[in-house]
Amino acid sequence: MMPLAPWRPALARALHRNRARAYCRYLQLATINIGGKPSNRTVVFRGFVGEALQMVTDGRSEKVQQVRANPWAEACWYFTVTREQFRIAGRLTLLDPNNDVEALRSKAWQAMSAKARQQFYWPHPGQTRANETEFEPVSEGAEQPPDSFYVLLLIPDRVDHLTLRGNPQDRYIYERKSDEWSVETVNP
Ligand SMILES: Cc1cc2nc3c(=O)[nH]c(=O)nc-3n(C[C@H](O)[C@H](O)[C@H](O)COP(=O)(O)O)c2cc1C
Repeated sequence: MMPLAPWRPALARALHRNRARAYCRYLQLATINIGGKPSNRTVVFRGFVGEALQMVTDGRSEKVQQVRANPWAEACWYFTVTREQFRIAGRLTLLDPNNDVEALRSKAWQAMSAKARQQFYWPHPGQTRANETEFEPVSEGAEQPPDSFYVLLLIPDRVDHLTLRGNPQDRYIYERKSDEWSVETVNP
């Protein structure tokens, strides 16, 4: 078994210490669009899979096309109680109906609330809003995820951890090179 990545305890601690704020599970996830420009949005963190950060998304959304063309991404995550930022860079993997590694996609669907599930039956994200009846709740699909339901896994290879508490502040850079993580304390 691979040893736990050295940044994981710091991130787990931040999640624990900030748990009173539901929004501590929201992070910003930047990808690169087809024109090579950055594209950023808020997503919900849905747990770790080994070293990877798990999120879910709609397979019809733009980010999925972007990830298929270029898997590099960076998450930026600020924890308000402990005043620390994690910038987590790496590659995104998509789990779709044809690629449900270790049934992670099915498990993620089981963990979704009924309300969150409904969104995956809505009409195509980003297209002109036309017919309100298309948003009516569907009762089907409780057990199996619809084809639009995707899991995103961010597999980090660089983590930049900045804590604002100290004076001077503390900043650590974790880097992975061929499965070995290094850590360096740098100036903030
Ligand atoms: C608080 C919050 C949480 C969100 N969580 C998710 C999420 O978990 N997955 C997701 O795909 N979009 C989520 N969104 C919507 C995205 O920010 C974005 O609008 C949507 O995914 C379309 O992005 P795209 O066009 O770049 O694909 C969330 C938005 C907010 C404000």
